[in-house]
Amino acid sequence: MNYYDKLDLENIPKHVGIIMDGNGRWAKKRKMPRTFGHREGTQRVIEIVEAAYKINVKSLTLYAFSTENWKRPDEEISKLMDLLAYYIKNQLEKIKKNNIRINVLGDYKAFPDKIVRLIETALQETKSNDKMILNIGLNYGGQSEIVRASKLICEDVIAGRVSLEDIDVESFKDYLYTREQEELDLLIRPSGELRVSNFLLYQLAYSEFYFSNILWPDFHEDEFYKAIYDFQKRNRRYGGL
Ligand code: FPP
Repeated sequence: MNYYDKLDLENIPKHVGIIMDGNGRWAKKRKMPRTFGHREGTQRVIEIVEAAYKINVKSLTLYAFSTENWKRPDEEISKLMDLLAYYIKNQLEKIKKNNIRINVLGDYKAFPDKIVRLIETALQETKSNDKMILNIGLNYGGQSEIVRASKLICEDVIAGRVSLEDIDVESFKDYLYTREQEELDLLIRPSGELRVSNFLLYQLAYSEFYFSNILWPDFHEDEFYKAIYDFQKRNRRYGGL
């Protein structure tokens, strides 16, 4: 099926989030180590970033490493770091050329120094780009993000920069990692799990959800367009009629 040709290019979700899930199962099915699935999953990251760029998504948010992923074996964590480093080294020039800004959601400073330096280079070298924002969740959790935002607000209140009366649902968004970005229109979760797993908890208040049984390493460009096509058939009412 070619879903790209079916898309209404005037009605593209502005912000799409993806919980990249199923790498381990994909590898297991092939009797390979879990890290083999992460390696193939990284190829889908490259492919889906290009697909989102092609249809003019304004923000793409990928969940690469959660605050809970530290519970995995050291070897797997280390491989995920290597793949992130590979992705930045291998893709940064193209990302810059395409005018994409990289933004990190989460406390990436807990990562090894070498990775922190690479991330900071990517942030610095893309900071003025404005065609698309690629948000990468690294040591990210939605609850931690909300707590962090609340603490930042408290600091501003204590310092007298903000008054309590000025804090509301809208102004709270300025303290999230996704500040000044479009609302999350669509959340995609491949691999058959029907849960949110602490991803973008504040941002997904009015998002459409798209669940698929396809494992992330098999989630090629056309699966992404299929999700967008499905989104375009939804009737969004935001609590109205
Ligand atoms: C979930 O599959 C996937 C992850 C925890 C890691 C996602 C990371 C990448 C695709 C690669 C690196 C990222 C970038 C941005 C280059 P799982 O291991 O939970 O799969 P399972 O549920 O089948 O075990």
